[in-house]
Amino acid sequence: MTALRTTTFRQLAPSSRDDVDLLELYGDAPDRYVRAGLATSLDGVVAVSGRSAPLSGPADRQVFRALRGVCDVVLVGAGTARTEGYGPVRLTEDAVAWRAAHDRAAIPPIAVVSRGLDLAPGSRLFEQRPIVVTCEAAPAERRHGLADRADLIVAGDDAVDVVEAIAQLAERGLTRVLCEGGPHLLHAALSAGVVDELCLTVSPTLVGGGPHLLPAAVPARARWRLRHLVQGDDLLFARWTSS
Ligand SMILES: NC(=O)c1ccc[n+]([C@@H]2O[C@H](COP(=O)([O-])OP(=O)(O)OC[C@H]3O[C@@H](n4cnc5c(N)ncnc54)[C@H](OP(=O)(O)O)[C@@H]3O)[C@@H](O)[C@H]2O)c1
Repeated sequence: MTALRTTTFRQLAPSSRDDVDLLELYGDAPDRYVRAGLATSLDGVVAVSGRSAPLSGPADRQVFRALRGVCDVVLVGAGTARTEGYGPVRLTEDAVAWRAAHDRAAIPPIAVVSRGLDLAPGSRLFEQRPIVVTCEAAPAERRHGLADRADLIVAGDDAVDVVEAIAQLAERGLTRVLCEGGPHLLHAALSAGVVDELCLTVSPTLVGGGPHLLPAAVPARARWRLRHLVQGDDLLFARWTSS
């Protein structure tokens, strides 16, 4: 458990109110969802020199932890897990109490999506048994090598079929899915039509170049609906729903 400097969050829409409780705000969601949570610069860039930290800050870290605090599983692409050095989820004391009061498992596992399975055995990712979501085309030797360190989900042939992966997570009781990206996994999830919510942090900086939120076009969908807009420090936190 970790303590954080606390930012005061102000909701700007749909109504204005101060001192927003992030766990209550983001915990107010259906029992089944796929929620994508990412941060971008003003020009839609998601990483600076390969890392997302320059787009973050104390307020974003609080929202990041609140999103984790209310989910059943954190779904992340292997690119992000490798670059950002993913390890087990650490919850705030408030999130631990919130989860106990809302009948949630103690800690949401990390589910890492990978075809190549180039996941270093000694990395932090394996400090607490993760779920590895892969596909039939994954190298058989690596797949077998992971069996004693991770729970394996095989969904799809050439690439992970995100619809099938979400269904298999649900069979394990993991129905509140927080997808932390990165861009390639987000693209696959949006293309599969499984994303119910987008929680986007907008950081007050211009970066230029890339990588951007999405690496390629996604199928046209109905417009997203603004569920809320919250301000914390100089960052904006928008929550968009697909219906
Ligand atoms: N600002 C933010 O909020 C934020 C959030 C996340 C990431 N990022 C940044 O984004 C960058 C990483 O971008 P990225 O697009 O490479 O990340 P990514 O989507 O996390 O990783 C791509 C990798 O994930 C696996 N993957 C994704 N979809 C798959 C599918 N449908 N089937 C099989 N495997 C799949 C593959 O792994 P294998 O290669 O192992 O097969 C693929 O190479 C980093 O710089 C990170 O800092 C920023």
